[in-house]
Amino acid sequence: MTELIYLKNSYQKELSTNIVAITPKGDHYEIELEKTIAYPQGGGQPCDKGEIIGSKGKLIFTHVRLTHDRVLHEGKVTGTLHPRENVKVAIDWNTRVNNMRIHSAGHVIHEVIMETIPGLTPVKGEHSKQKFIEYEGTINPKLLETLEKRSNMLIASNQEIKTEIVTLSELQKRSRWVPLHLPKNKPLRIMQIGGYPPIPDGGTQVATTSEIGIIAITQIEQIGPNVRVHYSVQEISEFAKSNAESVPSISLEEFKLRLTQLQMEIFALLKLTTADELETLHVKFFGSNGKASKIIKLIRGLSISQRRLGGLAVNSFKQNVEDKFRESRSQKQEKAGARFDISLPGTPPPQGHLHIVSQAIFEITRIFERIGFTRVRHPEVDWDWYAFESLNMPPNHPARDEWETFFVEREKSKVFIGISGSHTFDASDKYGKIQNTKFSKMVLTPHTSNGQVREMEKGKLPIRMINIAKCYRRQSDVSHVPMFHQFEGMYIDKNVSIGHLKGVMDYFFKQYYGPERKSRLRPFHFQFTEPSFEVDINCGVCLGKVRLPGGKTCKLCKDGWLELGGSGMVHPAVLQNGGIDPDVYSGFAFGWGIERVAMMKSGTQLDDIRLLYSNDLRFLEQF
Ligand code: PHE
Repeated sequence: MTELIYLKNSYQKELSTNIVAITPKGDHYEIELEKTIAYPQGGGQPCDKGEIIGSKGKLIFTHVRLTHDRVLHEGKVTGTLHPRENVKVAIDWNTRVNNMRIHSAGHVIHEVIMETIPGLTPVKGEHSKQKFIEYEGTINPKLLETLEKRSNMLIASNQEIKTEIVTLSELQKRSRWVPLHLPKNKPLRIMQIGGYPPIPDGGTQVATTSEIGIIAITQIEQIGPNVRVHYSVQEISEFAKSNAESVPSISLEEFKLRLTQLQMEIFALLKLTTADELETLHVKFFGSNGKASKIIKLIRGLSISQRRLGGLAVNSFKQNVEDKFRESRSQKQEKAGARFDISLPGTPPPQGHLHIVSQAIFEITRIFERIGFTRVRHPEVDWDWYAFESLNMPPNHPARDEWETFFVEREKSKVFIGISGSHTFDASDKYGKIQNTKFSKMVLTPHTSNGQVREMEKGKLPIRMINIAKCYRRQSDVSHVPMFHQFEGMYIDKNVSIGHLKGVMDYFFKQYYGPERKSRLRPFHFQFTEPSFEVDINCGVCLGKVRLPGGKTCKLCKDGWLELGGSGMVHPAVLQNGGIDPDVYSGFAFGWGIERVAMMKSGTQLDDIRLLYSNDLRFLEQF
């Protein structure tokens, strides 16, 4: 069993010990020693490199591994080495220091993450070429900068990193998190940063956090249920350089005074500076050799305990100066008037757009307007007469079942105002006298067909109306909402035939869905049209062919057609109810759901139609 000296002292560079065994391994040898300072690869940390020097030869080891409780040093032997021979072990100090810094950096970032983000379970750390710590859970990538800043602050606060050998039960008592499968009866080593909870750890660590240098968090990467926080540590050469320039010691008062004087100087100069000279002034102070940069560097001359306060003073100094610069920049530009470069692209204000249903309403209206239709509006709270009775559906008629209607309760004598976009009407005034006959019950219009007889009553012929309104039915599931929209077209003139209906359908489809689309009329039944049809459109995905180019069958349609909605030739009784002579005039009508028509155009297959009205911008912004 090799005694692991590095566990107790990670700063020991040399050691005298005896060889236990030498085993050949290809053209290399593996040497086991009584004790070692060389760290064997493991725990996410790479191994040390170094030399084992005997009296007549040496082994330059490039790999060190731990098998059971023996550490094996592998490498090339020059000269000869013997078992039981006394040797000197020396490790490559640069490699060791870098590995310690990288490893401790991982622990610092870990503490900051545990402190900042609740609910993460540590998984593992890698502190070699790849550097990351992995958790089960998620971290918002937006936190990258915060985590980086906090880690560097913790590093700068120069906390002690202690290691200790403890028992498992002691560890369980003191630690925030204990990995599974830790040996029960062996002593364990733990490490602890400042006052943070201890963590089981077998690697080498620097003694104080400030030896780590500056770290950067380079990426927060979500991999399935886990998240990796990638980091990097300042190269040792740079780190050494920035530490090497020795700084004379300075008291906190003196340091603060220098900052205040400098701030006063900058403020005074800013008053005298023109807009053009501002940037030069900024560079003069804050460039790498600038006066401000030089004074800020003096912070390293502060005693460790005062550095934090020094840092705070620097921050507020920078904040004050930057604010002042910003203020004078805008003041001077204002004065100079024309200094504002109007050719620069501005920041566009966020722009909304119409709801997909409103977009469809406008587009449908425009298409029908081109062939002489006019958009009209009729009440959305209407008499049962217009919604049903005048359309051949007397009270209790079974055909009504399809329209799961909301009835409006009202006191008989009360004035009721029905509202419909362009006009309001006062029911008891207008229909007061006949209230107990035709106009007794009111409904939330379950379809736009209530506009049919209302439009006829206007007494103007021919009629080319497109009535778009909200409709209400007592329904709510993935494909139904209680409030939706319909558009109802109606054309009444002398000699209107099914041919006109078909022609208008084809025109609309080609305009709205594109030139390859065709319509089909399929026999159906409505009380208020005779004959009645359902209108189908050929499928936009397979264009009615069902088979797709690759030989697969179309998933959107089953037989090449998609169902749009109802239509038909206006029933003579309905014409009569509207005061039109069915022997002279005829007409067609159709009424379809806007939501369905619009979703078919956008190609969106909604799993849940209720999304349309859930005000979720992530959905709405797509249209
Ligand atoms: N109003 C019918 C519905 O809601 C559709 C329709 C309108 C049918 C006009 C024929 C004529 O289903």
